[in-house]
Amino acid sequence: MDNFTFYSPTFFVFGKKTEEESGARVRQFGGNKVLIHYGGGSVVKSGLLDRVKKSLQAEGLGFVELGGVEPNPKSSLVYKGIELARKEKVDFLLAIGGGSVIDSAKGIALGVVYDGDFWDFYEGKGVTQALPIGVVLTIAASGSEGSGDSVVTHEKGMYKRCADGDILRPKFAIMNPEITCTLPAYQTASGITDIMAHCMERLFSKTKDCEVTDRLLEAIMLTMIKEGRRVMADPQNYEGRANIMWAGTVAHNNITGVGRQQDWGTHHMENELSTTYGCSHGAGLAILFPAWMKYVYKLDVPRFVEFAVRVWGCQMNFENPEATALEGIEAFKNFVKSLGMPTTISEIGGKEADIPALAKSMFHNSPNHGSFLKLNEDIVQEIYRLAL
Ligand code: NZQ
Ligand code: ZN
Repeated sequence: MDNFTFYSPTFFVFGKKTEEESGARVRQFGGNKVLIHYGGGSVVKSGLLDRVKKSLQAEGLGFVELGGVEPNPKSSLVYKGIELARKEKVDFLLAIGGGSVIDSAKGIALGVVYDGDFWDFYEGKGVTQALPIGVVLTIAASGSEGSGDSVVTHEKGMYKRCADGDILRPKFAIMNPEITCTLPAYQTASGITDIMAHCMERLFSKTKDCEVTDRLLEAIMLTMIKEGRRVMADPQNYEGRANIMWAGTVAHNNITGVGRQQDWGTHHMENELSTTYGCSHGAGLAILFPAWMKYVYKLDVPRFVEFAVRVWGCQMNFENPEATALEGIEAFKNFVKSLGMPTTISEIGGKEADIPALAKSMFHNSPNHGSFLKLNEDIVQEIYRLAL
């Protein structure tokens, strides 16, 4: 295990009706004037926005609203949010939504207190300062409610990039699993896939002897397989939704990733798919992870055998361990397919001719990807072709 630091200061408020505490939590963490940020309207339709506003009013907090965050959030709304927050002298951001809304809010939080262009932080500038953020989570997926990451796409060039720093970890995250019962099946499945992928980006590591985090990752993935099947069959199942919601947070607040090299190459390849074809982040991962695993598994067959046996319950083939490793990869692919996810680039409208441009865009001003296998444009093209 490598040396590490781990700082995860988010205050989690989990369970039924917890959104009614939004105002009290903003107050607890020092907010006075709030920018409420949300997406395309699901929170209006469900009445969640009204419930949160009522709770802020009960605490006597002032607020302004900015809706309209698209899935895979874009820079133009972040710029708008920065302007609005400055004009209204906002001192706290409250994101009501999923990864896209939270990440857009994190972009605004960075930009408000910075003299330059917020995008600098997505091109490698170190993050040191941001307005405080709170979250009312509506979908279990990105883990952004506990992470220090923000993923935004700049419309100029359509580059989807990440800023990160512990200061971006939300001050609090309100997590009521009931709210996720209104998710369309495609979004539930995308979230399940993303949570699995966050475990796999950490599991396939060159760092040895990380037994405790290996076992935590396995526990999360086993839970996702069980509860994923349960909620896809029974979307109103509270216990299933609750386990998935918490799994999404612990999969990505990095308690499972400390002390080891992590890969993240597949996530960066995925950014190009969601940007180019408009698929969900989880759908892009469902397509690419099997291809990446097939490309790299020979680098560490025993690790992939462990994944097959411990996570997917495959029988060990002592004569031919590679066959067991491949069986595990196939089991993951069959699982995401059974959730209704696409498993080829063609299914989301991609063609062979697009591949060089996808690979080129991924490396634009961003040369380093992957650590289990260091990627370059040629390798990435081969992996995309395996996923065609
Ligand atoms: O916009 P609305 O109308 O709210 O609808 C959303 C959206 O269309 C809908 N939705 C969310 N909660 C709902 C609901 N519909 C009905 N009922 C509910 N309770 O779901 C759609 C998808 O929402 P989105 O926020 O895009 O989903 P997700 O949480 O999967 O976020 C994806 C984004 O997160 C980034 C991804 O790259 C992508 O841009 N990620 C962020 C990470 C981070 N910050 O740590 C890590 C992840 O790896 C990921 O990259
Ligand atoms: Zn992800």
